[in-house]
Amino acid sequence: SSSASSPIDDFLRCLSGKIPAEQVFTQSSSGFMAELTSSVQNPRFVTNATVRPACIVAASDASHVQAAVRCGRRSGVRLRVRSGGHDYEGLSYRAVRAETFAVLDLAGLRAVRVRAGDATAWVDSGATLGELYYAVGTANPGFAFPGGACSTVGVGGYLSGGGIGLMMRKFGIGADNVLDAMIVNANGELLDRGRMGEDLFWAIRGGGGESFGVVVSWRLKLSMVPPTVAVFTIAKTAGDGGGGDAAALLAKWETLILQPFLPDLTIRVVLQGRTALFQCLYLGSGGCARLAATMRAYFPELGMTASDCHDLTWLRAMAFISLGAADAPPEGMLRRTNNLGTYVKSKSDYVRRPMGAAAWSALFADHLASNNAGVLILEPHGGVVGAVIPDMATPYPHRAGVLYNIQYGVFWWGDAEGESSAAARRWLDALYAAMEAAVSGNPREAFVNYRDLDIGENAVVGGVTEYESARRWGERYFMGNFRRLAAVKGRVDPGDYFRNEQSIPPLLQPY
Ligand code: FDA
Repeated sequence: SSSASSPIDDFLRCLSGKIPAEQVFTQSSSGFMAELTSSVQNPRFVTNATVRPACIVAASDASHVQAAVRCGRRSGVRLRVRSGGHDYEGLSYRAVRAETFAVLDLAGLRAVRVRAGDATAWVDSGATLGELYYAVGTANPGFAFPGGACSTVGVGGYLSGGGIGLMMRKFGIGADNVLDAMIVNANGELLDRGRMGEDLFWAIRGGGGESFGVVVSWRLKLSMVPPTVAVFTIAKTAGDGGGGDAAALLAKWETLILQPFLPDLTIRVVLQGRTALFQCLYLGSGGCARLAATMRAYFPELGMTASDCHDLTWLRAMAFISLGAADAPPEGMLRRTNNLGTYVKSKSDYVRRPMGAAAWSALFADHLASNNAGVLILEPHGGVVGAVIPDMATPYPHRAGVLYNIQYGVFWWGDAEGESSAAARRWLDALYAAMEAAVSGNPREAFVNYRDLDIGENAVVGGVTEYESARRWGERYFMGNFRRLAAVKGRVDPGDYFRNEQSIPPLLQPY
């Protein structure tokens, strides 16, 4: 009967008057599905079998976030926080097992306020990286922020997981450049760095989203770049023999990452089919002319010439990298898009020893060449990310000695589960198994922003996430920092209100 009040009814009643009614969507609202899918990047998590939120709260003010947390706690409704919706397992808007929860969507909390005077910016979590780049680059073409390659990624999740990209060799990862933040904790209080304390401020800069509270906004340190920077993209093919063979080039490329020390120069590589795409960003002075000379000195085998290269403002370089064309207008990075057509599964690794030409050749021959819907993205570390910032300064532990991160992705079309899905997963699993010998071990490192539930899921015992069950995946994402993250969680959210299948468990007593 309708007389018994459900937790969701209590939650909605509690929210009324605190959040405009048109910003709260229940499953029966006509706008529910449009709101739910607005930022979804993987249709695997919006099928009929998906465990969906009972309601979506679209916050446009910090007070809405506070109300959602307070009402959620009071009525026993958990929140899944969503900024840009790019989570690889969809954990910001779906649950793996049956559960009543609400999505707290921050897409409407997206202001970027650049303070040119001290080269800082406050950015709300719901802004995308593209919106951040646009505000930073138009405020002053000499400003930059080290974000990722994809402009639709949300700032909230990106920084919560550390945030890697083409500028980290020069400036560190995204989270290394956070100066302050505003967080709503499990009591619904809005706290800045001074009030949240240094241990919580440490944890939110790379300890993964969801676990510690809702980060509403971040104060960023902006870096300086020359008026123009240089970019190129060069495609090479594997198996054509000779010095230009992609496998031989990869073997040379991986020896350049740590020595000599060239933090201005980053070349990431995208492998698909028999093709290796070398994508370069050069942040030093002298632009393409200087870059061409550097390439001749260190990597002549790639055969880069001046005609491959573009001198662009940093903002236009970000548009080139994210949109793929040198004349791409930066406004294109303001477009928010979802993806409901292509299914994706991703995994990640870190490499600490060069693989060598034979292993690269085998990778192409045995795996990549047979599947055009598989992609590897190799993101070089070294430079500042590996050398200057200690492993413990922020939770991101993949630093000294790391050559590069590998992101594996496989795509399919048709159905979320079925023959094409099974074939894609088999291909990915075989590749991941074959890579074990070449990548880091004990633990086999993985990147929290490339979330992968294959490496483990939490067990909830007595209403609280169990520490031991979480160690299996947690030490792969955070290595020696995992225990410290759990201790912070134990202090700020001992009741484990903020949780998902891979949230940090509260460590209540010293182990
Ligand atoms: P989403 O909203 O799905 O949130 C991700 C997680 O963080 C969820 O657990 C969520 O609950 C939590 N969360 C979100 N906002 C929060 C907040 N304000 N406070 C607390 N918790 C919050 N990564 C990278 O480092 N470098 C890269 O170059 C790329 N490139 C890239 C390209 C593409 C196409 C995709 C799909 C993904 C990437 N990523 C990436 C990975 C990306 O950084 C990662 O998925 C982020 O978590 C996405 O952040 P969103 O806010 O978009 O995700």
